[in-house]
Amino acid sequence: MVVLAVAVFVMLSSCAFGCSGNTNSSELKLWNIDDQPLAVQLAAVYKELESLRCEQTTAQQQQNALHQMLITTHEKKRTKEVETTLLDYRINHEEEHNLWSSEEDSKPLVDPCYHYTVLDQAWRATNTTTKYKMCDRHAKWKGWYRLFYNGKSLQMPERCVPVNKCGTHAPLWLAGPHPKRRQGVVTRRVCGHWKKNCCAFKSTPIKVKKCRGNYFVYQFTKPTSCYLAYCADINTLVCGRCRRNQSCVSRDKINWRCKRKRRLLSRKIHFFASYPGQLSGKVNKIRYSKVLVNVGRAFNKRTGVFKAPVKGVYQFFFSTHTGRNGRKTDLWLVINGYWVAVSHTHVSSPSTVGSLSTYMTFLRRGALVFVTHNCGSSWANAASMTITFGGSLLAQRK
Ligand SMILES: *[C@@H]1O[C@H](CO)[C@@H](O)[C@H](O)[C@H]1NC(C)=O
Ligand SMILES: *[C@@H]1O[C@H](CO)[C@@H](O)[C@H](O)[C@H]1NC(C)=O
Repeated sequence: MVVLAVAVFVMLSSCAFGCSGNTNSSELKLWNIDDQPLAVQLAAVYKELESLRCEQTTAQQQQNALHQMLITTHEKKRTKEVETTLLDYRINHEEEHNLWSSEEDSKPLVDPCYHYTVLDQAWRATNTTTKYKMCDRHAKWKGWYRLFYNGKSLQMPERCVPVNKCGTHAPLWLAGPHPKRRQGVVTRRVCGHWKKNCCAFKSTPIKVKKCRGNYFVYQFTKPTSCYLAYCADINTLVCGRCRRNQSCVSRDKINWRCKRKRRLLSRKIHFFASYPGQLSGKVNKIRYSKVLVNVGRAFNKRTGVFKAPVKGVYQFFFSTHTGRNGRKTDLWLVINGYWVAVSHTHVSSPSTVGSLSTYMTFLRRGALVFVTHNCGSSWANAASMTITFGGSLLAQRK
């Protein structure tokens, strides 16, 4: 059964409008769907359908997330086996291991942030000099990788690394900054340092992506020659400890530290408008022509429509004042074409009543919000401020 909330009935300054003192409490009975005209009943059923659809989407998303978790766990398990083999590989070992060959070549498109291979090889660290020189040309690269040092997340160096570090001759470093998260997947050049030339080896560019939780994944490919190997910057171990509200920064690309992210400058959006006249019957969009507040200029007084300028949590309110005998008056808040909240009054005796409804919701940028007068009659004059519509952005979201 569809249950709709009761609109808040507010007895407004009744004296100004010739109230006879009849404030019968039977006015406060529940709004009953069965009493409503067909159109209103349909709207309510439609809304219920919409919320069911929403629940279904949420369930689907949860299922997808679970699926991805399973994939990642599986990958990690497989990588453990692979690493043991990889650590054994030596110079002059020309045979290419099919280490990363996969059964299925046409993989579904998944987020590399959850679908990567763990590369936890201490010899890749920028502070190691090993006797044996590794060459990443001997590895079969496939898909995305995340760098670790003894189980701790770290990232590629963004600076020239001295030769003979990272367990190889010419260490490969990222010739460009790591991307920000909103940049998604970016392509970066990779350089190998050799004989006083920081980019003596211009290796194949790779793709990089920043993930939620301050880590990066790299789509490594076979370097152009031997002995080149991708480096893991030991100085960036600290980055793995940065909190969600911090980012890892460095001026010299040697010393890294967690720094508090600059707070999002939240946009200020507030509006408050009134309709200085009377409304009767069906009025598709109430044109609140008297605008008292319009910070952020998101409310259009010509059309009566509010357009969300940013994504975030918004709160709206709308009110009216109705009268007359035995007539029902319904005002609906309409968001993106959906009738989401009603202000309902039903005055059965010669009296008037004020009604105020509020609604809070998450909106995407560009969402359209207005108030429709569906039936009945509403009263206001230029000074009374009884038919009003207003709202505020409470919290901006990225
Ligand atoms: C490299 O740095 C790590 C972490 O600071 C340290 O544990 C390790 O001993 C260092 N290795 C060398 C060869 O200095
Ligand atoms: C950053 O987030 C942590 C929790 O992850 C919290 O304890 C801390 O107060 C936050 N700092 C700021 C400045 O918001």
